[in-house]
Amino acid sequence: MNKEIEKLLNDQIKYEAKASMQYLAMASWADETGYNGIAEFFYNQSQEELDHMRKLVKFVNERGGHVVIPALDEPVSSFDSLNELFETFLESEVFVTGKINHIIFECLELKDYNVHNFMQWYVTEQLEEEAVARTLLDKLNIIGEDKSGHYLFDRDINMIAAEADQEEQ
Ligand code: FEO
Repeated sequence: MNKEIEKLLNDQIKYEAKASMQYLAMASWADETGYNGIAEFFYNQSQEELDHMRKLVKFVNERGGHVVIPALDEPVSSFDSLNELFETFLESEVFVTGKINHIIFECLELKDYNVHNFMQWYVTEQLEEEAVARTLLDKLNIIGEDKSGHYLFDRDINMIAAEADQEEQ
């Protein structure tokens, strides 16, 4: 495996792990704050990011590369509002999309079509996740400070996310 690509994939392993821990911290905050639906949503997101990470680990190993399991900084674990929580979600997804696009770019530059092909799955996944994050943030902006709106948002979040997912497909 090309060393430059190996390094980029290892970096990506770290970003996926980081996103997973960040979403776990967000799930825990929501759980503690009484937003059980939002907590469930982020527990699931955290698990998905772990799956993304593991998929990369396996791929690098299958291709004869060397995987470095990263040390991580502590995630942000306290939020002033639901808006801040979901802004953090969107920022994280936009960041990951940028990194994936960079890998795609480098794959083309270095003519590594195998990795390029493998990374297409991540491109599609990021489109969906960014769309979900934007939809949820849009809903929250409409709701504003309305407490009963937050209650309904918490109750319906999995449904809203599923709808956003479907619209994207
Ligand atoms: Fe796997 Fe949403 O980044």
